[in-house]
Amino acid sequence: MTAVSHKAGLRLVLLGAPASGKGTQGQKLAQALGVPKVSTGDMLRAARDAGSELGKIADGIMSAGKLVPDDLVIRLVDERLAQPDAAHGFILDGFPRTLPQANALDELLAQRASRIDAALCIDLPRELLMERATLRRADVRTGQIYHLKYNPPPDSADLLQHLVHRDDDKEETVRKRLDAYDTMTAPLLPYYQGKNILHHIDGVGSPDEVCARIGRVVRQLNSAANGHAAATEGGADGG
Ligand code: AP5
Repeated sequence: MTAVSHKAGLRLVLLGAPASGKGTQGQKLAQALGVPKVSTGDMLRAARDAGSELGKIADGIMSAGKLVPDDLVIRLVDERLAQPDAAHGFILDGFPRTLPQANALDELLAQRASRIDAALCIDLPRELLMERATLRRADVRTGQIYHLKYNPPPDSADLLQHLVHRDDDKEETVRKRLDAYDTMTAPLLPYYQGKNILHHIDGVGSPDEVCARIGRVVRQLNSAANGHAAATEGGADGG
């Protein structure tokens, strides 16, 4: 991400429906800012693959396109944010996803004299969300995300052996995840709007185009953090 100046210290929440591009953009942003990307989806999949108690509970819930209970994911995030690499900023991808999770996040950060600086919501029409989810593939070894139409994996026999199609990316399950988003997660938009830290990002376009829109918002946040007046020009809300 060339559009973002390298500055650690931001604590960001990435919002957006399933397959809106949170993981793709979160990875770029985390690299650019030098902070960890904390994805509850990735952590739950790792727990499932490791066969832990949490993983066993989460497995069926995730495959059904439902949300894992709040207390389990809140504990997971609390432990992760206590790690030293998250002390100077982080990108939260897929958390919070419910109002109780958002409240718990605020509380656990307040205990550390900290707070969320901004919530960035990647907006995408439903038909594109469906296409992005059902054609997604990931390299199980590295976590690298591909898309069969927009970002096809290199033609390598070795890589093809390690490409996975997520269980919950089947069309019927994606519909359930989208419904769960509308019911449980969309209420977070007025929550963060009320705190005046919500920024909408237009998610239509290439990953680089979306990245540039996010970059504009992050530059403003960095300016504000540095005590300068935030620039108002240039579609800072991604429009
Ligand atoms: P999670 O893994 O968080 O899934 P999600 O929110 O549904 O998001 P995705 O990972 O599906 O998509 P994304 O927005 O990261 O998009 P991506 O960048 O991959 O959660 C999975 C499950 O875990 C949940 O359903 C739930 O059960 C459980 N869970 C997780 N967190 C929880 C919580 N807090 N509480 C309770 N339960 C929780 O992009 C998608 C595809 O599009 C890729 O193929 C990519 O290559 C492609 N793409 C990306 N950007 C572009 C672009 N600009 N143009 C073209 N293609 C693009």
